[in-house]
Amino acid sequence: MGRRFVAAKIALASLAACTQAFAAEPPPMWAWGVATQAPVPIYSTTAPPPIAEPPAPKLDSTRQLSIAGSKFRFTAAQISNRHAPADWYPEDHPPMPGLVAKGREDAKSPVWACAFCHMPNGKGRPENAGLAGLSYEYIVQQLYDFKNDLRESSDKRKVETQLMAGFAKAMKHEDIKAVATYFSSLPMKPSVKVIESASAPKTIARDGAYLPLTGAEAGMEPLGSRIIEVPASPEDFEKRNPRLSYIAYVPIGSLEKGENLVTTGGGKTTPCISCHGDDLRGVNPAPPLAGRSPSYMMRQMYDMQQRKRTGLYGQQMAAVLADLSNDEMLAAAAYVASLQP
Ligand code: HEC
Ligand code: HEC
Repeated sequence: MGRRFVAAKIALASLAACTQAFAAEPPPMWAWGVATQAPVPIYSTTAPPPIAEPPAPKLDSTRQLSIAGSKFRFTAAQISNRHAPADWYPEDHPPMPGLVAKGREDAKSPVWACAFCHMPNGKGRPENAGLAGLSYEYIVQQLYDFKNDLRESSDKRKVETQLMAGFAKAMKHEDIKAVATYFSSLPMKPSVKVIESASAPKTIARDGAYLPLTGAEAGMEPLGSRIIEVPASPEDFEKRNPRLSYIAYVPIGSLEKGENLVTTGGGKTTPCISCHGDDLRGVNPAPPLAGRSPSYMMRQMYDMQQRKRTGLYGQQMAAVLADLSNDEMLAAAAYVASLQP
C-alpha cells in the first residue's frame, strides 16, 4: 500500500508541474440539485461571505409519522429539528457524541446536529456527503479545510456548503476529534444502485436533491449528459430515513468509459486507482470512492478542478483533474458509484 502511494506521489509531482491551466466548462448543474440549470457566476478565489442561519421552516408538530422497521414515531417538526433530529434506528449505530446528536445552540455561531444532514449512521444524502467509511485523518483534514476557507462550492446557491463551513469554524479541536472518532468508526454500507439508461424520471429539485414527480406529472425524460440520483422512496426521503437507498440513472456507455479512465487514466491523467486503491475503497489520504453518491463526487471533482477545494490534498486532485472534461468526470463518478463499497 505504502509503495503504491509513493509511486503515485511521484507521478503527481510531474503532472502538477506541467498543468497550470485548467478546463473552464460551466458547472454541471445537475450535480447541485438546483431548480434552474443556469450557473450563478461567483468564482471568487476567497471565502464566501458568511451567511445568516436560514430560518427554520414551520412544520407539523402533531401528526405522528412512522417508517418500516422502526419502533419510534416522530412528527415532521421532530424529524427536522436541527438540534435533535429523529433517530429512527438507534440500534444501527454506537451512541452519538453530543455534537453529532444535537450540535450546539449558540446565537452567534450555531452548530447543527451533524446527524440532521449526514444521518446518525453517517450515510449522508446526495445533497451533502456520506461520512461512514472515511478515515479519522481525512475527516479532521476536511473540517480544518472548511474552517480555513479552503473548501467552498462552485455555486453559491449551495447554502448547505456555506453552513458546513460555518459549523467547522465554530468547532474547537476537541470537537473535531470527537466527531471524527465517531464517523470514522462507522462502516460504509451500499446505498446507491447505478442504472445505465437513456432516460430518467422527471424530477423536482428541492434543497439540493431531486425528487421524482408524482401523480399526473410523473414520467420519464431524456437523460442526456447528466446523472440523476433519486431516492428509492420519496416518502422516506421526506422522513429522513437513514436506511434509505438511491437510484442513479447514468448515460449508456458511461460505466465502461469510466472504468477505463479510473483504472488506466485514459492517457489523460494518473489512474485514480493509484491513489484511491485498486478496489477504490481508499488509501490515506485519498478517501474511498466505491459506492458513494455520484452527485456528491461530481460536485467535488468540479470544485477541485476549479480550485474551490484547495486544502493540502485538494490541490493534488486539482492537478489530476485539470485536463478532464465534465463528461469524463461524469463517467468516473458513475463507475466508482457502481462499485461495492
Ligand atoms: C446543513 C447540513 C449539514 C450539517 C448539519 C453538517 N454538514 Fe457536513 N457537509 C454538508 C455538506 C452539504 C457537505 C458537502 C459539501 C459540498 O458538497 O460542497 C458536507 C461535507 C462534510 C464533510 C466532508 C466529507 C468528504 O467526503 O469530504 C465532513 C467531514 C463533514 N461534512 C462533517 C460534518 C460534521 C462533523 C458535522 C457536525 C458537526 C456536519 N458535517 C454537519 C452539510 C452538513
Ligand atoms: C495523486 C493521488 C490521487 C489520484 C491519482 C486521484 N486522487 Fe482523488 N483524491 C486524492 C486525495 C489525496 C483526495 C483528498 C482531497 C482532500 O483532502 O481534499 C482525493 C479526493 C477525491 C474525491 C473527493 C472525495 C470526497 O470524499 O470528497 C473524489 C471524488 C476523487 N478524489 C476522485 C478521483 C478520481 C475520479 C480520480 C481519477 C480521475 C482520482 N480521484 C485520482 C488523491 C488522488
